[in-house]
Amino acid sequence: MSRHLTCAAVLLGVAAAVVSCGRGPIESKLDLSPAAARGRDLFLNKSTPRCSTCHMLRDAGAGKMIGPNLDTHPLDHAKVLRALKQGVGAMPTQSGILSDQEMSDIATYVVEAAGK
Ligand code: HEC
Repeated sequence: MSRHLTCAAVLLGVAAAVVSCGRGPIESKLDLSPAAARGRDLFLNKSTPRCSTCHMLRDAGAGKMIGPNLDTHPLDHAKVLRALKQGVGAMPTQSGILSDQEMSDIATYVVEAAGK
């Protein structure tokens, strides 16, 4: 029994190390609202495909230019939410992948972090 527990603890430690290595910058330097902090985690780790595959957003360590640069592209919460819900051009929708609340949290994050 105790051997099993030790094994499980070691495996969990390894899993945690792997997960944290796979992320971009772990901490934001910004003073994000709770919704934006949740949105940042979704942006980095749960959107499918990841926002960072196609976009630039400095706070998220995202540097791709397939879609517009989110640091400079003019946007507001409604616009980001519409892009996430419906998709826009080559950008796939996140509907059916993320909940309405999660999409709203990502939009809050993008608006708070853009250009900072
Ligand atoms: C497969 C690549 C891809 C992914 C993944 C992607 N986008 Fe996009 N995004 C684009 C492209 C391309 C456009 C420009 C579409 C156009 O204007 O025709 C765009 C446009 C946008 C816009 C501007 C919308 C507007 O009305 O001006 C926002 C905001 C945005 N994306 C946010 C996100 C967020 C947040 C995520 C993650 C949930 C994401 N994107 C994931 C490719 C992507």
